[in-house]
This record gives sequence, structure tokens and C-alpha cells, in this order.
Amino acid sequence: MKDHKAGTGSLGKRKAEHIEVSLLKDVEYKTVTAGFENYDFYHAALPEIDLETIDLSIEFFGKRLRAPLFISSMVGGVEEALRINRNLAEAAQFLGIGMGVGSQRCAIENPEAAETFRVRDVAPDIMLCANLGAVQLNYGFGIDECLRAVEMIEADALILHLNPLQEALQSEGDTRFGGLLEKIESVCRALSVPVIAKEVCFGISEQVAGMLADAGVGCIDVAGAGGTCWSEVEKYRSGSDLFYQVAESFGTWGIPTAESIQMARRGAPELPLIASGGIRTGIDVAKAIALGSHAAGLALPLLKAAHESPESVIAALSVVIQVLKTAMFCAGAPDIRSLKSITLRKKSED
Ligand SMILES: Cc1cc2nc3c(=O)[nH]c(=O)nc-3n(C[C@H](O)[C@H](O)[C@H](O)COP(=O)(O)O)c2cc1C
Repeated sequence: MKDHKAGTGSLGKRKAEHIEVSLLKDVEYKTVTAGFENYDFYHAALPEIDLETIDLSIEFFGKRLRAPLFISSMVGGVEEALRINRNLAEAAQFLGIGMGVGSQRCAIENPEAAETFRVRDVAPDIMLCANLGAVQLNYGFGIDECLRAVEMIEADALILHLNPLQEALQSEGDTRFGGLLEKIESVCRALSVPVIAKEVCFGISEQVAGMLADAGVGCIDVAGAGGTCWSEVEKYRSGSDLFYQVAESFGTWGIPTAESIQMARRGAPELPLIASGGIRTGIDVAKAIALGSHAAGLALPLLKAAHESPESVIAALSVVIQVLKTAMFCAGAPDIRSLKSITLRKKSED
């Protein structure tokens, strides 16, 4: 890895390597898919609605989103992250969708890095989510640090990401996950904004969804398997043969996103869900919503676009939005509420 102007020590170096590896290497799952190809809509030859009247908007924790989409949490803390986050935020503001920033741990530990996360000036209206690793609650972080992450970027929610496998694949990883649920519960109680629990690509099971709901989280982002694969990312940045081989062994690990949505739905029937992990098209978004999520998130394809310009992010997401609208038209769903009640055809049962 080349040397980066991180300014935030080993954390900054790690983050810069995550960006570089994700941009330059093939870091997606090789044989595991998100599972949406196993489902189809029944085509409505007579939808009895006008394409132009299809309403994609949703209400999410009091904010109106013009489409049920989030730019998933990715970067921050290093020089290049500033431009990427601002390009993403400008696109989110233009399209009226939500966005998360990458883990703010480095900016809590080194306030100079906070600038790379601040995007409110270019995105005053969007649903913006702060982000910290939940495991940091076992490494000295508490309610105060969670509040600071939210205040730092004037966020509407706090994402606590759950990433035991990602940490276990790093020689420098934080792997003390014991007793974390209780601490998540106290954060949920103390914060005035909702807490969103999120994996990073390995999915949320029914049991874990139930535990998180009982702890008081306001939403779950399943971040399942099928898109970006963190064992691939960590494999490329592993400094030793041991960690390379361990990471490689987990190349098929994880609950595919389509399955995780349904598991989380069963485990936490009352909670809104975000589907992410391998969402690549508007049809994936439509299927994710029909399977039980409220919205969907994309990360890697937008990192590549944001590396170029806000216009590239808008162009990529505009295709997703137009495909979603067309899929709803041909499934006979005039709005997101109707899309949620559609039953998909499971292909493997044919
Ligand atoms: C470069 C990069 C950095 C990421 N950093 C974070 C992070 O700091 N916090 C987090 O919750 N998820 C992080 N993620 C995970 C994404 O939010 C998302 O859950 C995952 O990439 C799956 O979505 P995808 O298949 O659309 O990429 C990161 C993803 C990428 C590609």
C-alpha cells in the first residue's frame, strides 16, 4: 500500500487502505449472490396506473425521502474522504435520499479529522446518519462519544455497525464483543436520535434482529452478503500470510441479503429495515422492499462514482431510481406502501 497523508495515525492508514483496495481490487463476493435472482415479480400487463404518477417517497424517522434509498456508510478521516463524502452528500441532496458517513472513530480520537465528515452545508435537508463501530463501546467509548458523533455532523440518526468478522480478520482488530448488547441498549436509551444497527456485509440473523429490537434500536440495516465482501478487502490489506489465509477462508461467509431481510423481518417485525449488501439495480431495490425492507442502501458502486464527481453519483442513482419506478409500474404498485404488500414468485419453487 502506498503511503497516505492520513493525519490520524494507524486508523487513518487503515481507512485509506480500505478506500484504495475497494477502488482498485475486485472486492465483491465471488460465488455468493445477494439472492434477488431467486425472486421475480408477477408482471402486471394491466397495471391500471400511470407511470408518471408513481410515488417513490417514504417517511423515515420524520424525514421525507424522495426515493427509498440510502448511500451506505463508507468514508471519512483521510484527505480523499472529504471530497468523496461531499460528492455523495451533494448527490443525496439533489435526489432527496439518505446518506451515512463512514466510521467517525478517528474524528472522536483526533478532532482535526472531523472536517472530512461534515457535509451538512451541501446537504441541509437529507436524512444524514452518523457512524461508529458498536465494539468501540467495549474500548472506552460511551454515550458521550456517541453524542459527539451525532453532533459533529448534525446527524438525524446514529448507525452502530456490528463487524465481528471484519475485526477478526485484521491483525490489529478490536475483537472484544462480549457484553456489547447491554451497552448498545444504554446508548439507545440515552440518545434523542434513533440508533440504527448495521452489519457491514455478513447479514443479520433472526435471533440477532430480535436481540437488537429488545435493546431498543430504531432500525436495522441488514448489510448482507452478495456485494462488497470484507473478507476480500481485509485479505488484500493483510500484512501476513496467516491473515491472508484466514481472510481467504471466509470468502463465502455471510447471510445473503435477500434472506437476511426476511430473517430480520421475522426477528424484529415492528422495526423498519434497510436492505444493503449487493443492491445493484432498481429491481433489487424493488425486490428488497417487497421482501420486507423499508428502504435500500448502496455503497461500493457509489464510491467509484463519488471518486469522480457528484454528477457521476447522480447519474448512477438516477438509473437505479428510474428502474425502480418502472419495476413498480409493471408490478402494479403505485407507491412504496403497495410495493411492500406484493408477493414475489420464488423461482426455486418452480
Ligand atoms: C470503502 C468502504 C468503506 C466502508 N466503511 C464502512 C464504515 O465505516 N461503516 C459501516 O457501517 N460500513 C462501512 N462499509 C460497508 C457499507 O456501508 C456496506 O454495508 C457494504 O459495503 C455492503 O454494501 P455494497 O455491497 O453496496 O458495497 C464500507 C464499505 C466500503 C466499500
